[in-house]
Amino acid sequence: MRIIAGTARGVKLAAVPPGVRPTTDRVRESLFNSLGQFFDGGAVLDLYAGTGALGIEALSRGCERAVFVEKDGRAVAAIRDNLRRTGLAERAEVLRMDVERGLGKLAGGSQLFNLIFLDPPYRIAPAQVGNLFSRLRSRLVPDGRVVYESGDPPQQSTLELKGVSRRYGKTVITFFERTELTMNVAVCPGSFDPVTEGHLDIIRRAATLFDHVVVAVGGNPRKHPKLPAADRARLIEKVTVDLDNVSVEVMNGLLVDFARDQGAQVVIKGLRAVSDFESEFEQAQLNRTLYPALETVFIMAEAKHSFLSSSAVREIALFDGEVRGLVPEGILESVREIYSGGHGKIQTNNDKG
Ligand code: PNS
Repeated sequence: MRIIAGTARGVKLAAVPPGVRPTTDRVRESLFNSLGQFFDGGAVLDLYAGTGALGIEALSRGCERAVFVEKDGRAVAAIRDNLRRTGLAERAEVLRMDVERGLGKLAGGSQLFNLIFLDPPYRIAPAQVGNLFSRLRSRLVPDGRVVYESGDPPQQSTLELKGVSRRYGKTVITFFERTELTMNVAVCPGSFDPVTEGHLDIIRRAATLFDHVVVAVGGNPRKHPKLPAADRARLIEKVTVDLDNVSVEVMNGLLVDFARDQGAQVVIKGLRAVSDFESEFEQAQLNRTLYPALETVFIMAEAKHSFLSSSAVREIALFDGEVRGLVPEGILESVREIYSGGHGKIQTNNDKG
């Protein structure tokens, strides 16, 4: 593999480490032909960067700065080697971390990008890809573009978006303008300790109303969840696996900051009875004060779930009562084990998130 054009034209790139799927020279050349070949400054973000060939090609063709995000140590070594070979290291930053964390880190800063390359492993879940798209919009300059590389056919989650796709053998490249990345994204936050049939009903119904729903597993400082947030998130992932436009994330910190970072315009809450109203009203008003553009939308719980709560499930499970019908079937055994009063595996409460 070589750099095709620009200041580093012809420079041979380092060997591709095992497990990395590089964009071939032919696809890279066609892709840059479609982008307009050369750049006049600007910044590029290369996500799932692999050997960094896309971002380095953009630097060679005139981009001023590049940020590479890659978590595989050998791939990161290849990126650094390639930056050295091409003499472009000074204009680049390499973040060795997964893309979720990388985007979180970038969200804290003011840097915007003219070009974002997104080349996730084909095995990554469609819901996760959808979640990435909803977050990229806020990282782009107004006339910026996202270039998404996928298998053929592209991931289900991108089909709702308008980008222009080109096929190169088994690879599909889709170009998105910033305006084409508009997704209606909702955040569905909660403690989910554990997720109940009532929660799942609200999540499912929200998924029919919005392009993408991010379930945010948070720490309610007024409660002390029994399970760490990551474990609560795993249980939700298990029961939402059939929902292509639902992803699950751990939320640390304020809901408004999380929603902003996720590119969400709406918070979804379920309302069971009048008794929920007071606290929900207070939270909605506070969140509105902190972030006026964020709307809270309430979905009425089904009548049959109006009595159902995570705390009731925990109490019933603690005394080895029957939780079937209260929590989704797929996590029945886990809930019994985790929350039972001593027969199963009891998790200590070390979760302050
Ligand atoms: O299921 P819960 O316990 O009612 O969920 C409450 C949750 C997690 C949605 C709420 O505590 C929350 O939003 N936590 C994040 C911290 C925050 O933003 N607090 C200010 C809201 S008023």
